[in-house]
Amino acid sequence: MKNIKITDTSLRDGHQSLWATRMTTSDMIPILDKIDEVGYHSLEVWGGATFDVCIRYLNEDPWERLRTIRGIVKKTPLQMLLRGQSLVGYTHYPDDIVEKFIEKAAENGIDIFRMFDALNDVRNLEAALKAVKATGKHAQASVVYTISPVHTMQHFLDTALKLREMGADSICIKDMAGLLSPYAAYELVKMLKENLDVPIQLHTHYIGGLAIAALLKAAEAGVDIVDTASVPMAFGSSQPPVETIVRALQDSERDTGLDLHKLFEIANHFEQLRKHKGFERGVTRISDMRVFEHQVPGGMISNLMSQMEEQKATDRIDEVLAEIPRVREEMGYPPLVTPTSQIISIQAVLNVLMGERYKLCPGEVKDYVRGLYGKPPVPIKEEIRKKIIGDEPVVTVRPADLIDPMWERARQESAHYARSDEDVLTYALFPQVALKFFAWREARGHEDMPQIETHNEVREELDITKENPPATRNTINQLSPKASFRGDEEMNIDHIRELILLLDQTSISELEFQKDDYRLALRKNRHDGDMTKMAAPATADIREEPAPVPAGTIDLVEVISPMVGTYYAAPSPDAPPFVKIGDRVEAGQTLCIVEAMKLMNEIKAEVSGVVADILVDNAQPVEYGQVMILIAKN
Ligand code: CO
Repeated sequence: MKNIKITDTSLRDGHQSLWATRMTTSDMIPILDKIDEVGYHSLEVWGGATFDVCIRYLNEDPWERLRTIRGIVKKTPLQMLLRGQSLVGYTHYPDDIVEKFIEKAAENGIDIFRMFDALNDVRNLEAALKAVKATGKHAQASVVYTISPVHTMQHFLDTALKLREMGADSICIKDMAGLLSPYAAYELVKMLKENLDVPIQLHTHYIGGLAIAALLKAAEAGVDIVDTASVPMAFGSSQPPVETIVRALQDSERDTGLDLHKLFEIANHFEQLRKHKGFERGVTRISDMRVFEHQVPGGMISNLMSQMEEQKATDRIDEVLAEIPRVREEMGYPPLVTPTSQIISIQAVLNVLMGERYKLCPGEVKDYVRGLYGKPPVPIKEEIRKKIIGDEPVVTVRPADLIDPMWERARQESAHYARSDEDVLTYALFPQVALKFFAWREARGHEDMPQIETHNEVREELDITKENPPATRNTINQLSPKASFRGDEEMNIDHIRELILLLDQTSISELEFQKDDYRLALRKNRHDGDMTKMAAPATADIREEPAPVPAGTIDLVEVISPMVGTYYAAPSPDAPPFVKIGDRVEAGQTLCIVEAMKLMNEIKAEVSGVVADILVDNAQPVEYGQVMILIAKN
């Protein structure tokens, strides 16, 4: 057997698993040439959460990062992780976006595209595989590994054979939760090697400690490539350390041939970085190791814990962890990986917190049941499906066939800011966050511009009239965050809407607008979601002074928030609000959304009546039990 080859994940999965993906490009640059000298099979540097975190938290252009790395790493192939039809996002995109994204990623430096679908529904990889083949780059398709009564060795083999038939240049076993035992690894790799004519790669996570043994048994079975990370970014929920694997295989027939000394030099760089930035070591907590029971991957577990903390329900985590396998079974045993890990976990949390199973189901759970994420490994339990979507039909075609092309629209919508096709793609994938990032980038380009993020107590006043509208972003950017606007009679609601649109594209957090009888509070939405959010919230709203409840109204029904979260008045940023004050609503009608635990939960009216008051601003946090809306019952 040949030397085993190694893919280094330090620059993607390593810091995604342990450091919340917060390594910046400048953290990487000083060590890239050394990494390039090691002789790795490939470097995983892009995809997964890196794209989202770059624009959302690091104010970095992910495309720029890729080009920078490519500029320094001359010898080693660069690799990315692609979530099939979801690319680097959380929802399916139309084929035209998939094609364009892959074309541009290849152009900017990606050599190997590793793709997976959370449900092993190979239809969700069709477009991506075809697009990668069209670029002439290496298309690696993954078999997502999980344990369930239906995930037999035969299922994994069938999936791999289908992917090979579709053109995959290699197959990756993707064990995102670290569930693959050493003996299962041996059996699986051996079977794939016997039945396929392409390289087999193993990606696993350390978590419960199986990974090192699993890699060694896989090596025995003939695996071609394995994934590891530099030791400061290994262990815990990350990959096993490269240093251990190199040493373990030294002088065997699978010797990696890598130089330990060079690896320690690299480890030293990352260890200094870790200490300097206060990043964590890879540690396995018992709750993480309980992945053997609940299968929730490491990244999701810490997310779940912090969400339970937010809900002030940490004492109920055991109930949730027991509920997850039940929900998973009822939902057709999906492997738990983005986005199914979020979908199953949130439903389990809601089932526990609401005191009634499936009483509240987020939109994503409904979409999953509708078949919009693909086909679950086994059908969803009939009575559960009925409970969640009633008699709604279930989609049986490839989900992306139902999505309209989007490139042209994204191009037009982002025309004002986008400087390149790459920018248009960034916008298409994360519209809200992209606009904010573009505005930041633009502002940074103007040296004379004041710092818009600093909080300045001085109130500036600006005359805004029809003749002198706030027509440019610069006008807005030059204001301090607390600036107030004074308008005149000419300033109508349309002007204000325009103003809000402009505000929306800046970093200003709050503005007040005073005009005669109107008192409008315009708040820049600070809560633009984060990396695991599935839908972008509305961005700004106009809150008129609440209309007084008509005299004689007898019965006011309070609509309370069922959990700690964020209130949204509309289903999407561009959409009108679900309800306005004075609207008539019927029982069962959606009133608002409370976003909690990364998902959007529609809150429905329990009674019919008239909306008497809305007590929460769009995109504002709400507490458990907080009254959000009053309905005058009749
Ligand atoms: Co991983």
